[in-house]
Amino acid sequence: MITSEKILDCLKTVNDPDLHRDIVSLGFVKNLKIDGEKVSFDLELTTPACPVKDLLKEECSRKIKQIKGVKEVLVNLTAKVRPLVQTPLDTLKEIKNIIAVASGKGGVGKSTVAVNLALALSKSGAKVGLMDADIYGPSIPMMLAVQERPVVENQKVIPVEKMGLKIISMGMLATEDAPVIWRGPMVAGILQQFLGQVEWGVLDYLVIDLPPGTGDAQLTLAQKASISGAVIVTTPQDVALLDARRGLKMFQQVNVPVLGIIENMSYFICDQCSKRHEIFRQGGGLRVSQELNVPFLGEIPLDSRVALGGDQGNPIVQAFPDSEIAKAYTNLAGRVAANLSILSEQQKKHSSSQLPQAQKS
Ligand SMILES: Nc1ncnc2c1ncn2[C@@H]1O[C@H](COP(=O)(O)OP(=O)(O)OP(=O)(O)O)[C@@H](O)[C@H]1O
Ligand SMILES: [Mg+2]
Repeated sequence: MITSEKILDCLKTVNDPDLHRDIVSLGFVKNLKIDGEKVSFDLELTTPACPVKDLLKEECSRKIKQIKGVKEVLVNLTAKVRPLVQTPLDTLKEIKNIIAVASGKGGVGKSTVAVNLALALSKSGAKVGLMDADIYGPSIPMMLAVQERPVVENQKVIPVEKMGLKIISMGMLATEDAPVIWRGPMVAGILQQFLGQVEWGVLDYLVIDLPPGTGDAQLTLAQKASISGAVIVTTPQDVALLDARRGLKMFQQVNVPVLGIIENMSYFICDQCSKRHEIFRQGGGLRVSQELNVPFLGEIPLDSRVALGGDQGNPIVQAFPDSEIAKAYTNLAGRVAANLSILSEQQKKHSSSQLPQAQKS
């Protein structure tokens, strides 16, 4: 006879490769039902963006089918994102994870990564917000073709919703030709308002697009925004890598875990000859990750459709979801979400936060 014990014993042999524990002791198996020769259950993962969800589902199904008497297995994938908030602010308590996208240097593709990362997380089924913290040069409204202005209700700003994301940006509040002369303390105040006075509601992930550099604005945010983890964007040139190191050290100083480094504009695939061209020296992002002992989140190629998508308000993950480059952003989202789950699990066990060593993905 098929029993729950038999099924659970079998599922105990399935391990989550990131959390290094079996899916039963992790509490992933829910609503187990045995109906004659049919076994069904929910597999509740720590994020809908889990990069190995299909592999886990397949392994469960394959192993259970080996139990005598089982003819049919139904694994229903679900997810409940775990919260990872470093120093909870009351106003942010409904936001489970805050991800800062940063770089030491300007123009490396932070906003592009932030937008496509947010969209990829959202497409996986997560509830996602996007906060443009670049007060001086907000680019999110253009990248997502947002023309609406946020409304205020009960003294709270309601973020604008577009492509499934809840968005707030200075670009939605200031007029286009108004001079931007914010000083340091004002910037800090505005960012505090974006966090405290915006009605974000329940979010699995809030992605923050940081302004370039490692100055006051970045430091204030890193200290006050309860950031769960930071993603550092770099390009392969040595100058950018130098700045990436600086950015990384800033987060480490204020005890914000670095989820990893992403190398943008890594290489170019020629549409004429389909060959991969390394325009810059190869492997810089990976080298820096290894040197500083943080995860490497992958490479994003140079692709004119990315720039065009940004200019036209139709980001590549939305415009060409099946393209190789959209897949690179989706992989990035999976890695970021998985690394947050790892940190959350470690926080639960009160062990020191440590992410796996840099590896080429
Ligand atoms: N992978 C890519 N392929 C082609 N173009 C890209 C890629 N990533 C970013 N770009 C383009 O590079 C330019 C700079 O990108 P983006 O605005 O995202 O950088 P940033 O780091 O946010 O800049 P800033 O420091 O000014 O905020 C944009 O025109 C963008 O469309
Ligand atoms: Mg930007």
